[in-house]
Amino acid sequence: MMDDRTIHILLAGFLGALLVGAVVIPTQPFSGALAGHALGIAGGIIMSLTLVYPFRKRILNKKGKLNPLSSHVFFGLAGPTLVVLHAGNNPASLIGIFTYISMLLVVLSGIVGRFLFKKVNRSLKEQKGDLERLRALLDRKRDEVGARELETFLEAKASLFASGEECRACEELHGVALSVAETEHAIAVFDRAKLMFKRWSMVHLYLTAVLFAMLAVHVLVTTYYGLRWLP
Ligand code: HEM
Repeated sequence: MMDDRTIHILLAGFLGALLVGAVVIPTQPFSGALAGHALGIAGGIIMSLTLVYPFRKRILNKKGKLNPLSSHVFFGLAGPTLVVLHAGNNPASLIGIFTYISMLLVVLSGIVGRFLFKKVNRSLKEQKGDLERLRALLDRKRDEVGARELETFLEAKASLFASGEECRACEELHGVALSVAETEHAIAVFDRAKLMFKRWSMVHLYLTAVLFAMLAVHVLVTTYYGLRWLP
């Protein structure tokens, strides 16, 4: 059985190849024919299914394993694949072209976000876990060392010449304290990155709003001007 990641990569590769094919290979007008329409409608419905993920996340508050992102990514790639087949190389209407471009922008922003967001999220979680463990260790080590002993050790550390008494526990405490400081710094950097990806998320969301607005107009216009394959 293929895992979700492999399916997504294959689907994204297929969509990319199809897109290049659709741009460079001239095709007969097909989007208005019965099969072309069916592909467009199916693609639109599948794309709409991407909205189940944000609905469950934001409205039903289902997060993490309760609401896996993988089906969102699948619908977000499979729907546009059908739409690319539906459109072919046939820029028939301006609104159709806008819908197509906004769809590609949504998919592209989704792919970028999928890479970056996950990376940042996972690293941040790991670092926060590390920090918790390090802080607990720091507390334990601090209890092992007397205040006077520590003071002498730190004075010796601060001075270039003084060579204070050997204090193994103090050395260890100092090492752990340095690791805590480094991890806190790394977390601050990741937190800033996370903020950046929150902003990315808004871009993906606004592009989605544009896409569905365009799609609605495209559907209304095509319905108004008639379904050519109807007798
Ligand atoms: C037509 C295609 C797509 C539509 C309409 C769509 C729409 C959306 C919407 C509305 C959100 C919620 C944003 C929010 O709650 O702030 C979202 C989140 C997201 N989408 Fe898409 N998307 C599409 C395709 C994709 C694709 C192809 C990928 C990845 C390859 C992707 C990756 C993501 C990621 C990583 C998130 C953030 C998840 C989170 O914050 O929990 N999307 N998408």
